[in-house]
Amino acid sequence: MNTAAPGLPADQPEEVSGSPSQAELLDLEAALAARPEFQPHKAPELDPTVKPILTVENLKMYFPVKSSGLIRRTIGQVQAVDGVSFEVPTGGSLGLVGESGCGKSTMGRLITRLYKPTSGRIEFDGTDLAPLSTRELKPYRSDVQMIFQDPYSSLNPRHTVGTIVGAPLVIHDVVPKKQVLTRVQELLEVVGLNPEHYNRYPNEFSGGQRQRIGIARALALQPKLMVADEPVSALDVSIQAQVVNLLQDLQREFGIAFLFIAHDLSIVRHFCPEVAVMYLGKIVEIGDRDSIYGHSYHPYTQALLSAVPDVKQAAIGGRRERIMLEGDVPSPINPPSGCHFRTRCPIAREICAKHEPPLLQVGKRHKVACHFPGELGKHPVEPLTSRLLGVDDDGNPDPGGSPDASLVTKPGYDDTWFDLDTKTFGRA
Ligand SMILES: Nc1ncnc2c1ncn2[C@@H]1O[C@H](COP(=O)(O)OP(=O)(O)OP(=O)(O)O)[C@@H](O)[C@H]1O
Ligand code: SF4
Ligand SMILES: [Mg+2]
Repeated sequence: MNTAAPGLPADQPEEVSGSPSQAELLDLEAALAARPEFQPHKAPELDPTVKPILTVENLKMYFPVKSSGLIRRTIGQVQAVDGVSFEVPTGGSLGLVGESGCGKSTMGRLITRLYKPTSGRIEFDGTDLAPLSTRELKPYRSDVQMIFQDPYSSLNPRHTVGTIVGAPLVIHDVVPKKQVLTRVQELLEVVGLNPEHYNRYPNEFSGGQRQRIGIARALALQPKLMVADEPVSALDVSIQAQVVNLLQDLQREFGIAFLFIAHDLSIVRHFCPEVAVMYLGKIVEIGDRDSIYGHSYHPYTQALLSAVPDVKQAAIGGRRERIMLEGDVPSPINPPSGCHFRTRCPIAREICAKHEPPLLQVGKRHKVACHFPGELGKHPVEPLTSRLLGVDDDGNPDPGGSPDASLVTKPGYDDTWFDLDTKTFGRA
């Protein structure tokens, strides 16, 4: 077996990168542009013909908020995930992006069934995992694995690497005890670590190497789906690319599907042909890479994109205009009425407070939840959704109108969609 770490040039030792320049610190893309040896692999393409391995439908996770005192009553609910629907193709990957607290990790924990959802479906390979008991879930535990954000706290410092990576093999009894060590060494080799280091402790490894240990542990049971919860955000920029490349190599080699969770849009561009943007428990925009990065229609996505330094533009001496959002993210215990984003949206109008915008399909593989979808500054003057909702342009009841029955949000995409120019449903 090739002992070079997947994602690393054969003679490139990990983390011998020298001190990063100012440009490298800007962001991952800037670092990659400056360091050809850390170029990410070519981003995979979307294959719309592949069946989903995971279908999430109208998923909700409400955490109860209890009063203090002797008798602890439920006084509210944290609406961490609030009616989310999407698909992850078999062997493919979906990026899930959003600010801190928008519900990304809760989503990951629901899919791995570390949490039992309040309602909704989590259909994995044809089975709805949402209602299953702990005992009923056992056969699926090995199929869905999680890589955690923090490579420091997610590994037990008192256990050797061999014990950590071998634990799933022992617990699930997948190989005879005598073969556990051999399998552990194979896994360490696959993730680019020295197989002879199985008896070392996590503190003897760097951050990037620890994340490789976490990946080896997640790989041990040969999962079909991995939830990677910000797997590189705790690492230096130059190491991020190596770990992303490793994940991409593993995806290609073993056909593993990924839900790749990230804070910003720069890292998922290299990994995911499809991206979902979350705000306060809901998906506000989802689409293929070209739609999201090329012509996003939601003001929040555009604000996130404006925060990503554009390397090409920087090279010619310019910088994308930054869209600054005012205010903080509201509490998910008491989210704003109508559109959750309205308290920070620069173009919010009356209808935004009265009606939640439907997640409307507006392209072949593009959905957006906004009454005024379009590029900021060129967005429509009148809401495009009022007729569909059966209300007037201010969101008041329209005596002659009625809500369009087709507005139910489903996972995946239809063959027909709402054309933003003609304002009618049609097919390309
Ligand atoms: N076990 C819990 N009990 C109560 N509230 C919770 C629990 N877990 C998460 N929350 C709340 O749910 C919301 C979403 O949290 P979550 O950790 O999913 O966000 P996130 O998008 O992963 O944020 P970050 O980017 O900071 O990791 C937050 O308001 C959080 O405080
Ligand atoms: S629905 Fe209204 S508040 Fe929400 S993003 Fe669109 S314009 Fe802004
Ligand atoms: Mg999180």
